[in-house]
Amino acid sequence: MNDFFIAPSILAADFARLGEEVDQVLAAGADIIHFDVMDNHYVPNLTIGPMVCKALRKYGVTAEIDVHLMVKPVDSMITDFIAAGASYITFHPEATEHIDRSLQLVRDGGCKSGLVFNPATPLHHMKHVMDKLDMVMLMSVNPGFGGQKFIPETLEKLKEARAMIDASGYNIRLEVDGGVTQNNIAAIAAAGADTFVAGSAIFGKPDYKQAIDEMRTALKT
Ligand code: DX5
Ligand code: ZN
Repeated sequence: MNDFFIAPSILAADFARLGEEVDQVLAAGADIIHFDVMDNHYVPNLTIGPMVCKALRKYGVTAEIDVHLMVKPVDSMITDFIAAGASYITFHPEATEHIDRSLQLVRDGGCKSGLVFNPATPLHHMKHVMDKLDMVMLMSVNPGFGGQKFIPETLEKLKEARAMIDASGYNIRLEVDGGVTQNNIAAIAAAGADTFVAGSAIFGKPDYKQAIDEMRTALKT
């Protein structure tokens, strides 16, 4: 496993051939699969739910699945995604009444837990729950759609999140989601991220291996 995780977002995959798309992106060198769940309530778009996660497991996907919940409320979906074979389950602090309880629910189900921060959401929501986090994810676009432009302010926020994680002493991954490309990934890593979601910059390219290789090369420089 690499220190830097490349996490292709299947939001940009061909849903009619989802199993093959996941196989291909894993063969191309992806570390984990990013799975965007949207409810047309917390965000203005509707995507896929636990049945699709379960179907991928049944199809034979053994890689870690990084479930990003853009739903409100979160607890019943947490329970359903635990049963469906999720590896990570992350949610937005605004989407639950009880952040601590929802994180505990994820961990109790044997999954890795995470909080996701929208561009304008301050990081203080994580301060008192660091011991219950395996992942912190910063949105570098407003959630709801793929193919948006990276918001540069995220770089400063990443540095802040990195400092908070390092000061906590816990082993917490720092993921960034939205507008990540081969051109900006090095700057995002330099700001402290170690896990990179990319939808259109991978599935939008004809050669997934080349797209991922270019990211890894950029991360080495
Ligand atoms: C946006 C989703 C992202 C999205 C990223 O709400 O959470 O995961 O798929 O897509 P790109 O990489 O195209 O910005
Ligand atoms: Zn996402």
